[in-house]
Amino acid sequence: MPATVVVGTQWGDEGKGKFTDLVAKEMSLVVRYQGGHNAGHTIVVDGESFALQLVPSGILYDHITPVIGNGVVVDPGVLIAELDMLSAKGIDTSRLLLSGNAHLIFPYHQQLDALHERHLGQNKLGTTKRGIGPAYADRSMRVGIRVQDLLDAKIFREKLDGVLRQTNVVLAKVYNRLPVDADAIADKYLDEYLPRIEGHIADTVGAVHDALDAGQHVLLEGAQATFLDLDHGTYPFVTSSNPVAGGACTGAGVGPRDINRVMGIAKAYVSRVGSGPFPTELHDEIGDYLVDVGHEYGTNTGRRRRCGWFDAVMLRHAVRVNSLSDIALTKLDVLDGLDTLKVCVGYEHDGQRLDRLPYHQSVLHNVTPIYEELPGWKTDLSEITEPQQLPGAARDYIEFLEAQVGVPVSLVGVGPGRRQFVHYAA
Ligand code: GDP
Ligand code: IMO
Ligand code: MG
Repeated sequence: MPATVVVGTQWGDEGKGKFTDLVAKEMSLVVRYQGGHNAGHTIVVDGESFALQLVPSGILYDHITPVIGNGVVVDPGVLIAELDMLSAKGIDTSRLLLSGNAHLIFPYHQQLDALHERHLGQNKLGTTKRGIGPAYADRSMRVGIRVQDLLDAKIFREKLDGVLRQTNVVLAKVYNRLPVDADAIADKYLDEYLPRIEGHIADTVGAVHDALDAGQHVLLEGAQATFLDLDHGTYPFVTSSNPVAGGACTGAGVGPRDINRVMGIAKAYVSRVGSGPFPTELHDEIGDYLVDVGHEYGTNTGRRRRCGWFDAVMLRHAVRVNSLSDIALTKLDVLDGLDTLKVCVGYEHDGQRLDRLPYHQSVLHNVTPIYEELPGWKTDLSEITEPQQLPGAARDYIEFLEAQVGVPVSLVGVGPGRRQFVHYAA
């Protein structure tokens, strides 16, 4: 049975957690394929909110094996705290599998992340300061330390000493900071963390393929989003991994032919947290309305998210780079109170109309969105469960987006709760 990918199509926080949980019902395995605890995926069940950072959103179902894939960077302290939080809420976490090939985040990664941001000053990226970039940088430099290295204390210490020989020079000479003590880190990771996570370390690629071979459904859950992708996003204002659907192949260990559905998650408007271009950003009372009504504050960092109108140019690009099959349109209910809605259908630059995302990023920084206006519905959508109950103006909005983007909307979110959605099309 081929796998399904869930991918963010904008700048993150589209509602991937909620919709992964929704489609996870029919799955046997849910695999997180990249990112780390920079992610915050919210699932609201019977009024109780779960904010997941590392554990896949399928964890809430007893029948699912949640998997942290090789493409993820893992801070074991955060993982343990998350498992404890879930256990305290009565969730069985014993089934979690953790890839031995996933790379570890260390305190010095977080320190370097914060120092680098400070060093950039005005040009800072607005990272989550979770050490994501420095951990992936060590992976690319081939000095990273993997989860499996914890299983051999001698190798672990050798690798830690090796990387700290370089990192401590950077800390001292570039940032004027004290060196990091390898022994203190080794004690914590080997004596405190390892006993807590050892039972979860597994051959996750093997587990994914055994499930696929047995005809089971596998869901590959992305974190972040297409325009935060290291290759396809608004570089350098991106994260350090590949959230796009292709990242699901490398980050979970499957080939493209193992995937037959790529579900893109798109907010009915757009939000972004951190720096970088954002053509449809609103700096007016409608922007404030979207932040307030949409509760657009970071799940974990608490940062206010920048908000703007739906951008069909971006979505058309996301359709291409992810080969999206369908779209789950989230937070439609947030637009309930607006008289008029705008959708960006193209950009204008130097008197020219652009229907595609410009490849030269300086252009993207200077485009003016071309909007089409649609009437709002001024109706509370939060209790709606069937497409025919949606007001005509809401259906028109959805169908306008479908026509603009060229991919059907399969699910529509009308509230944060697990049951607040509409099956729009097959
Ligand atoms: P993720 O990172 O993509 O998983 O998204 P986040 O969890 O960071 O942010 C999405 C927020 O919107 C969360 O607070 C969700 O509970 C909430 N949410 C998800 N879908 C809907 C929806 O359809 N309507 C409303 N009002 N809230 C939603
Ligand atoms: P989820 O999975 C929104 C943003 C940061 C910053 C940039 C780089 O919840 O959608 P990083 O710490 O990754 O080096 O920061 O990426 N960012 C996110 N924005 N949602 C996320 O995750 C994000 N993860 C990282 O704000 O602009
Ligand atoms: Mg989030």
